[in-house]
Amino acid sequence: MNRILISGGNGFLGSFLTEKALKYNFEITVVDDFSTMKEINIPDNIDLLKKNVETFSTEEKFDYVIHLAARPSPEDYINHPINTILSNSQGTKNMLDIAKKSNAVFMYTSSSEVYGNASIIPTPETYYGYVNPNGIRSCYDESKRYSEALIMAYYRQYHVDVRIQRPFNVYGPRIRPDGEYGRVIPRFINWALKNENIIIFGDGEQTRSFLYIDDWVDATWKFLTAKNLSGQVINIGSDKEITINNFANKIKEIIKSDSKLMNVAERPDDPKRRSADLTKAKKLLNWRPKTELHEGLEKTIVYFKERLQ
Ligand SMILES: NC(=O)c1ccc[n+]([C@@H]2O[C@H](COP(=O)([O-])OP(=O)(O)OC[C@H]3O[C@@H](n4cnc5c(N)ncnc54)[C@H](O)[C@@H]3O)[C@@H](O)[C@H]2O)c1
Repeated sequence: MNRILISGGNGFLGSFLTEKALKYNFEITVVDDFSTMKEINIPDNIDLLKKNVETFSTEEKFDYVIHLAARPSPEDYINHPINTILSNSQGTKNMLDIAKKSNAVFMYTSSSEVYGNASIIPTPETYYGYVNPNGIRSCYDESKRYSEALIMAYYRQYHVDVRIQRPFNVYGPRIRPDGEYGRVIPRFINWALKNENIIIFGDGEQTRSFLYIDDWVDATWKFLTAKNLSGQVINIGSDKEITINNFANKIKEIIKSDSKLMNVAERPDDPKRRSADLTKAKKLLNWRPKTELHEGLEKTIVYFKERLQ
């Protein structure tokens, strides 16, 4: 039986990955400190260790080690910059050491944030990034970049089988729902369901590209279990850009909400455009996103409606 260790496995992405691993009869251990995801999202039969990743170690051996634990919501990481950096530095090192001792495949969820305010759109993996190294977002962006450097050092020096993915705005049921710490999708859906103003940072003409969770799981599983992908860095996202204004209106339309869009001051270093170049993912993983935005949003909205009731 394959053994898998997942940090942040109780979170949004982690809980879906856990379900996938269960389907394949993996023995699963999750390390999660419940800092961003407060409710339990995974079944009872999983070994759940309530610990933080920056102090975690174990003598157990695994076939796969996946490091997801982090604070991915800007409102959250801006308020917890040190913890954010530690989970993506010491936390990454701890998980790499476990993978090294176990001779396991190691996977890391980096982020499209490593590209910063990119000048090449859709952005390929070869773009080095345009990131403010000490701005308020740097605790997240730069620690993701540091992790990538550390992971590649373990690959080059110790020959650990490492795989780095860069997710772009993944969404779906179970994405962190709570108040201002939720990311753009839960915030917009919750406001629209309550007919409250939808608050948009800046003029709303900045773009994002959204990937539905089922497509993320599909790509991640292929990347994790494929042979010969050690040392690869792959974008996992969508190349369909949408402005935040159009996105908010789409959510309003599906919900038939009376919410009004309200623009407030833009956040420092907020990227102007974001879209993934998927050439590498298509070639190496034989994968492309299948879920249309409208369909994924409808499923996500059903989930949030049920929670509200
Ligand atoms: N969802 C996305 O769109 C997206 C995009 C890019 C990158 N990512 C990356 O994917 C990973 C998972 O994101 P998610 O969307 O599932 O977020 P999430 O907040 O839903 O899940 C993160 C999980 O990690 C746990 N955690 C946080 N800090 C921890 C720590 N120091 N020690 C132990 N556990 C800790 C949280 O309690 C939570 O359960 C993160 O590394 C994130 O940076 C996600």
